[in-house]
Amino acid sequence: MKGKFDYEYFKESADYILEKIDFKPEIAIILGSALGSIAEEIKNPVIIDYKEIPNFLVSTVQSHAGKLILGELSGKKVTCMSGRFHYYEGYDFEELVAPVRVFHLLGVKTLILTNAAGAVNTSFKPGDIMIIRDHIKLMGASPMRGTNIEEFGPRFFDVSDMYTKELRDLAKRCANKIGISLQEGVYYFCPGPQFETPAEIKAIRILGGDAVGMSTVTEALTAAHCGMKVLGLSLISNMAAGVLNQPITTEEVDEIGAKASEKFRRLISEIVKEID
Ligand code: HPA
Repeated sequence: MKGKFDYEYFKESADYILEKIDFKPEIAIILGSALGSIAEEIKNPVIIDYKEIPNFLVSTVQSHAGKLILGELSGKKVTCMSGRFHYYEGYDFEELVAPVRVFHLLGVKTLILTNAAGAVNTSFKPGDIMIIRDHIKLMGASPMRGTNIEEFGPRFFDVSDMYTKELRDLAKRCANKIGISLQEGVYYFCPGPQFETPAEIKAIRILGGDAVGMSTVTEALTAAHCGMKVLGLSLISNMAAGVLNQPITTEEVDEIGAKASEKFRRLISEIVKEID
């Protein structure tokens, strides 16, 4: 019998998508706030609204579209989520596994995650791109809490190289080649939707966070559980709370995202080209 969040539940979403395409994507890209322009580069796209896909989730954030785009990018078969799902929208961690588990069932081996993040590290500046070396999520919940689905991965699993070194090195080589400079650091997950307090940011800095954001970690953990390689890229959209004597606004986050989207697009195209 099919229960909520069992293997069959995710397979139903994947089967619906597979019926609409005649290839298997190898790479999945999840796009963060205002970083959607790469989606326009995808050749021969098959575009599916999230709301059409059985058992999928629906995006509620305005700057996030709600479409799955499947096609070809830099000669590779890809699937790209234009619009992602967040804990602050009301989804439980358990629900947030859906896209990545569905990608796994489509045949995806590599996941590229992008997001907008606030700089905790004061040597970063808005417009920088940070490769995620590791993350900190001190919130108790895990997307893998509850009955383990063995078809996806083991009960206990290692995450010491979750943001795969091989892909981080590849990203650095690609950035170098096209003349983009990169930062590297630790992404600290905060649940939102409020931005952080200056005191929280001070604490995060002491704990070892370089950038702070409200997404990405559930997707990275879900991918690691099912053996996918992960690359995480943060666009630094603002200095985190308390760094500058000014409030953080959604407008600045989206504006910096829009300005950097061309640089991001070039970098991701190059990385996708070079992935084996
Ligand atoms: N905090 C949390 N999430 C964010 C930020 C921030 O400063 N900027 C963009 N996303």
